Amino acid sequence: MLSGGLGTRLRPLTYTGAKQLVPIANKPVLFYALESLVAAGITEIAIVVGDTHAQIRAAVGDGSQFGARVTYIEQDAPRGIAHGIAIARDFLGDSPFVLFLGDNFLREGIVPYVERFRQGECNAQILLYPVPNPQDFGVAILEDGRVVRVVEKPREPPSDLAVIGIYMFDHHVFEIVPRLRPSARGELEITDTIQGLIDAGYRVEAPIVQGAWIDTGKKADMLEANRLILEILQRDVPAHVLDGDSQAHGKVVIAAEAQVVNSVIRGPAIIGPRTRIVNAYVGPFTSIDHDCEIVACEIEHSIVLEGTRLCDIPHRIEDSLIGRHVEIHRSPHKPKAYKLMLGDYSRVEVV
Ligand code: DAU
Repeated sequence: MLSGGLGTRLRPLTYTGAKQLVPIANKPVLFYALESLVAAGITEIAIVVGDTHAQIRAAVGDGSQFGARVTYIEQDAPRGIAHGIAIARDFLGDSPFVLFLGDNFLREGIVPYVERFRQGECNAQILLYPVPNPQDFGVAILEDGRVVRVVEKPREPPSDLAVIGIYMFDHHVFEIVPRLRPSARGELEITDTIQGLIDAGYRVEAPIVQGAWIDTGKKADMLEANRLILEILQRDVPAHVLDGDSQAHGKVVIAAEAQVVNSVIRGPAIIGPRTRIVNAYVGPFTSIDHDCEIVACEIEHSIVLEGTRLCDIPHRIEDSLIGRHVEIHRSPHKPKAYKLMLGDYSRVEVV
């Protein structure tokens, strides 16, 4: 599992937190990956960590909450995904393994692919997914169903098949990794590793994934992943959390310690523990994490992280990703103006 890297596309959130810990339906992206591995019978897991190692360790611990045993491997700088493999050499030994990038999200999990790799004769398995923007990913070319070439973020993509950040290798990968040289962006590339295996005559299989895959690097991707998970939630609204003037329609999950007063929640939506929704509307595809206060405002298709307070906002908030302990409220003081205190790389769209 790789959970280092910088997360520049999710700034300013990633100034204060690991991008792999940004929540989808109030659960960190990384936890979905860990759960997928455990569901596939993989319980010995190493997490490669970088600058944000303390937060990842605090969230994941020894892995027992997932039924796994987690070891941490520190990477001194983001020197590339293949560098992550190199530094995990002692942990991996000669065992076949799954390499899972901690910001990749495959809603239906990896069980069939791990099973296929376990039973098959191939040396590596990559997973492909057709995308409208292949230039943003590793891209594969197939000939007669076999992968013949992979290229990293090509300006002119040779196909629309993105290489997902979930890979399976046997020990032959360690013949290739030590020979890699840093790419133009200064990293040991996973795509060069795969190409090296192909060129050395090893068998690399590349099934096309069914179901939903998202690389959660940007706000729009987070919102999309959030939508995909909320859609499959089972309704769970404890009777005592809603007061007599409130309604919760459809797929709504509200934590037992939350409070909804004179408000409408239209699912799919999730409300975390100790959060208060007062005189408000929470619309479809919204996740509000724990210890928030949403008062006299309307919010829809958004993710709100813990400890945030939104109060008396005149227009509906939509398509938003709001970090931890943010405060947005209507100002009681003159002059009537926007008064902002925003971190570097914040983005605000006003009406
Ligand atoms: O998401 C799929 C894509 O992931 C593939 O299509 C590309 O071929 C592959 O190179 C990778 O591209 P990204 O540019 O999205 O990788 P990123 O730098 O965002 O890193 C992916 C994850 O790996 C992220 O959770 C951080 C972690 N990482 C990355 C590097 C470079 C590390 O832990 N250490 C590193 O040195």
